[in-house]
Amino acid sequence: MSLNVVIFGAPGSGKGTQSIMIAEKFGLKHLSTGDLLRAEQEKGSELGQKIAGFTSQGNLVPDALIIDMLANVLDEQPADTGFIFDGFPRTVAQAQALKEMLAKRNKGVSIMLDLMVDEKELVERLLNRGLTSGRADDNEETIQRRIQVYHSKTAPVKDFYKQEGLSTDIAGSGAIDEIFARICAAIETV
Ligand code: AP5
Ligand code: MG
Repeated sequence: MSLNVVIFGAPGSGKGTQSIMIAEKFGLKHLSTGDLLRAEQEKGSELGQKIAGFTSQGNLVPDALIIDMLANVLDEQPADTGFIFDGFPRTVAQAQALKEMLAKRNKGVSIMLDLMVDEKELVERLLNRGLTSGRADDNEETIQRRIQVYHSKTAPVKDFYKQEGLSTDIAGSGAIDEIFARICAAIETV
């Protein structure tokens, strides 16, 4: 069965940074819902404008839209593709939907990695990135809102994966290569 990794963690915890390295090392397709949403916004489409109404405020995009988008992307890939899911699932409803989408394809999540980083460091990283990223949500006020939404809506996803016996904590501070080594060690236990 293909390897399917969920990378989890608060805004700024390093999901995107580590996903690129994981995708390369393990030959996985990197699927970032944040990147997919930003690509749609850059098109300036009506859908993109609707999405921006949520992301620019640090709020989640509705589950139905995200789940549809993901299902379409999964369908475009060869059947034996393994994935790294970055920034998805972000609600328990999304986690349930992912489980069903993968089950239909005779697959499942292999491991969920939770990148643990102190809140103070998250804010510093994102403010720093905001200096050059051009991301409308990398400002102090929206960062606070994203962290708040993470605690209220996304943190329960961890309990979902704990119940499935798939959740692994990864110390997410320190050098990028050290964190990557911890992640590789965890994936190699699968
Ligand atoms: P999304 O794009 O997923 O943003 P996020 O979760 O807020 O996380 P980030 O991408 O900001 O951080 P990251 O964990 O990827 O860290 P990174 O590697 O970049 O989502 C954006 C928005 O889209 C959401 O708010 C929501 O509105 C919407 N959305 C997306 N998915 C959705 C979904 N499934 N459902 C509903 N809505 C959804 O690192 C951060 C910074 O730190 C970088 O500058 C990096 O260089 C630096 N850094 C990384 N590692 C280290 C290290 N070890 N030490 C020092 N600096 C580091
Ligand atoms: Mg990211």
